Amino acid sequence: MEKREQLYDGKAKKVFATDDPAYCIVSYKDDATAFDGTKRGTIVGKGVVNNRMSNLLMQLLEKNGVPTHYVEELSDRDTVVKKVSIVPLEVISRYVSAGSFAIRFGGEEGIVFDRPTIEFSYKNDDLHDPLMNSYHALALKLATEEEIDMIKMMAFKVNDVLKAYFLTLGVKLIDFKLEFGRLPDGAIVLADEISPDTCRFWDAETNEKLDKDRFRRDLGGVEDAYQEMMRRVFGE
Ligand code: TMP
Repeated sequence: MEKREQLYDGKAKKVFATDDPAYCIVSYKDDATAFDGTKRGTIVGKGVVNNRMSNLLMQLLEKNGVPTHYVEELSDRDTVVKKVSIVPLEVISRYVSAGSFAIRFGGEEGIVFDRPTIEFSYKNDDLHDPLMNSYHALALKLATEEEIDMIKMMAFKVNDVLKAYFLTLGVKLIDFKLEFGRLPDGAIVLADEISPDTCRFWDAETNEKLDKDRFRRDLGGVEDAYQEMMRRVFGE
């Protein structure tokens, strides 16, 4: 399958049409943004890490009963995915307090929960992706009740599968953000990416941060953290 016209140029990926309207090709960039795009930079090699890691995780999730948009990896940066219409919700699940959770509720980072949480943000940069609950999403007709139930179930399943997988690599999965899409027949599938851009990963022994927080918080060692996650996942 080959790239045709560019459909979309996002903050971290470009999306191209293909000769088949049911499929797109996503192309992962090294561009990094944070805080609604107000902080910008480049993380050399990030596109390769995110593309390859996300594809591996999508395949792992498919094997565990979570349907995804993944079709085929074309190259280090390019992947064929099913064309979906994205549900405009950022679906965040947490197992350990960090980031906006720690800030909003006044706790420290690193508190382990008895069970994972789930929350939604309205995917809208102009409004700064505001936190919303499922009633707000229903009121704004962003998704149906059945879709929201399905999305919650899938997000908890992703949490279970990925938490166990990353522990085998000596990595704690702290939290992550998912996006879901609708196929033409209305079925909900996991879309977007699962990568150090969209997850928090802490080394299981040292709690060293191995994700995009190194860029967001100017901690240094950003590229090294992405490469370390690549080594853990692919043994390279
Ligand atoms: P938060 O603690 O800043 O709300 O982030 C929760 C998780 O979501 C974390 O793993 C990083 C990820 N995330 C995104 O993927 N995109 C975003 O725009 C934000 C703010 C967070």
